[in-house]
Amino acid sequence: MRLHVADHPLITHKLTVLRDERTPSPVFRQLTEELVTLLAYEATRNVRVAPIEIKTPVSKTNGVKIDEPRPIVVPILRAGLGMLDGMVKLLPTAEVGFLGMVRNEETLEPTTYAERLPLDLSDRQCFVLDPMLATGGSLGMAIDFLFRRGAQDVTAICLLGAPEGVAAIERQVGDRDVTLVLGALDERLNDKGYIVPGLGDAGDRLYGTV
Ligand code: PRP
Ligand code: URA
Repeated sequence: MRLHVADHPLITHKLTVLRDERTPSPVFRQLTEELVTLLAYEATRNVRVAPIEIKTPVSKTNGVKIDEPRPIVVPILRAGLGMLDGMVKLLPTAEVGFLGMVRNEETLEPTTYAERLPLDLSDRQCFVLDPMLATGGSLGMAIDFLFRRGAQDVTAICLLGAPEGVAAIERQVGDRDVTLVLGALDERLNDKGYIVPGLGDAGDRLYGTV
């Protein structure tokens, strides 16, 4: 597994405002979108492209275009939905599929309650969006699901990750082609499975349920 943790003052600045408990939902949503666009730049570093020839007003030249089959972006509902617009701004031709997952707040075990993805993901590059990587249960289940459908590689973008979650994903994926892009790697999980210092419950903060 490749791990990339962002190291850029603009990302740290936006994450600081996002973490602040006083930040209201509309600002939280806006910042989430902006952060994803910044992280997507790194996450799409290995997106497959094909060579093409074009003509500028001056001469012929060679360039590239996003290759077929199109990449697929998979937000994990609910909180991952807040990251979708920021991602498709950079990858406007990507297909979008959905996974709905929720973790039981007592056992911390995830369950999948919705799925809308192509049956066959052979040769597809998948970009999974979920703001929080805590125990890694939800993301691990999503990654397994995509590989079982034949995905070629999976890149996950999370705004915050806990070391426990990163280690769990690393153990789980073995030698499969997985890249994890984090806005920040936080200190630890608390006894309720929340990321410390974290930002609280991402879904609640995005959708104004607090
Ligand atoms: C949050 C978050 C991740 C998951 C992370 O979702 O968006 O999906 O928890 O925790 P884990 O790494 O321990 O699995 P939640 O289950 O709260 O659902 P929501 O998106 O509907 O708020
Ligand atoms: N889910 C969240 O939304 N926040 C956490 O800190 C952990 C899981």
